[in-house]
Amino acid sequence: MRSNGFLMSFAACALCSMTATALAQAKLDLGKREFETKCAVCHGLDGKGKGPYAEQLKNPLPDLTQLARKNGGVFPVSRTYETIEGAGKGHGTRDMPVWGMDYTIQAAEALPDMPYNQAVYVRTRIMSLLEYLNQLQVK
Ligand code: HEC
Repeated sequence: MRSNGFLMSFAACALCSMTATALAQAKLDLGKREFETKCAVCHGLDGKGKGPYAEQLKNPLPDLTQLARKNGGVFPVSRTYETIEGAGKGHGTRDMPVWGMDYTIQAAEALPDMPYNQAVYVRTRIMSLLEYLNQLQVK
């Protein structure tokens, strides 16, 4: 019986660490996947601004690996969140799509009649992008 108990807790531990690893991977992949599917077309896979669509734009593309360096070594979380979300910026004056709106439309389709969950959906998408952009920063 004692060894059974030991086996059970061993199995439970193994399961726990597998779940933790799976969670970490899912978290990591979310921002990367989002960046590669939505942003890399303009910003490039490495974020340096050489995506295939870059030549079509009137504004030059910023190097997204320099955001922290240009901000005294600190990743500018709030400003970057607002830039991606697009709140407060005049429509039509920027080349960059307004992602907050895009995500809100997707959230309304995925989670109708749940405004709180829709807001969580939008924030999670943007936060996962911030996390990934933070990883791309040059030191
Ligand atoms: C259609 C091309 C295009 C796509 C797609 C795009 N961007 Fe942009 N982005 C731009 C341009 C151009 C700028 C420079 C400002 C402007 O003209 O709008 C910019 C600016 C930015 C900035 C501001 C950088 C700074 O120096 O402050 C951030 C952050 C950013 N983009 C992140 C993203 C993320 C994250 C995505 C994907 C969800 C994305 N962009 C998708 C074109 C694009």
